[in-house]
Amino acid sequence: MKTENLESVARKLVAPGKGILAADESSGTIEKRLKSISVPSTEENRRAYREILFTTAGASEFISGVILFDETIRQKTHDGRTFVKALEEQRIIPGIKVDKGAKPMANFAGEKITEGLDGLRDRLAEYLQLGARFAKWRAVIAIGDTIPTPTCIASNAEALARYAALCQEADLVPIVEPEVLMDGAHTIERHFEVTQQTLENVFHALYEHRVVLEGMLLKPNMVLSGKDCPQQASVQEVAEATVRCMKRVVPAAVPGLVFLSGGQTDLQATEHLNAMNQLPNLPWQLSFSFGRALQAPVLKAWKGDSANVTAAERAFHHRAWCNSKARFGKYSEEMETAKAIT
Ligand code: 13P
Repeated sequence: MKTENLESVARKLVAPGKGILAADESSGTIEKRLKSISVPSTEENRRAYREILFTTAGASEFISGVILFDETIRQKTHDGRTFVKALEEQRIIPGIKVDKGAKPMANFAGEKITEGLDGLRDRLAEYLQLGARFAKWRAVIAIGDTIPTPTCIASNAEALARYAALCQEADLVPIVEPEVLMDGAHTIERHFEVTQQTLENVFHALYEHRVVLEGMLLKPNMVLSGKDCPQQASVQEVAEATVRCMKRVVPAAVPGLVFLSGGQTDLQATEHLNAMNQLPNLPWQLSFSFGRALQAPVLKAWKGDSANVTAAERAFHHRAWCNSKARFGKYSEEMETAKAIT
């Protein structure tokens, strides 16, 4: 394991003004996304769509890395360059989703455990060969009246730590993603409590598995009111609760936190990131690793029609620019209708 390499890649991924594009939707999820714009999920449609995201001119000013899916890391641009090469040419770091998805946890109704540890060492070696420099594993924690259970949290934390240790052994920076879902009617206080408990377990497991904190990134959820909670917290409340929660449990040795958007609208995700970056005394870089919040306007502009590629690229560039501004706490609503000025 080359610790300096890991640290250097982790720091580049959270370089000021830059963040990560999560484009690692599994086959089922990308099918859902394409269906939302009435486009069938053929291999060529998935490729054409992702080519827009990976080759938009100027986006590399705001995007440090892209998380790919197994199919995507093997695909090419229309002019025959591998996606990995196309990204590298823009100095965007390619990454790869390596978990095999969250599956129902036996004996724990309503809870999930993420699979994919078997054979992971060999898969990581192949992904490194294909050009990946970092990896992602997502655990999912749901909130309900009687969940999450300590067993579900601890089992997912253990799997995340085993994955992270294997990544560092293979010279890949692990992105550790324990997502506490925003689905439900719970209050922001409950989301805070479960997020704190989850992160405590995750960092305990990372410590037990001797993971080098300087050579990893955390991909947490923001602390939010449940989607169906009647009392929705304000932007400022979300920012303060999230940073307060993270400060309690995330060691300052971790170079950066790259938030997921988790079902927030693209504007909400940007506003929350912006407000967090305006808070004082932040020990880590606070950045983004958005999927939906970066892609929603692109899908809407593209609609599966090659005549719309330029409009889709413009939408992606604009969203990435807004999030880049939020990295500095310099985003404002007027930018939504402004042209990107860099
Ligand atoms: P969202 O930003 O859409 O939550 O996706 C991020 C991600 O990579 C989930 O694993």
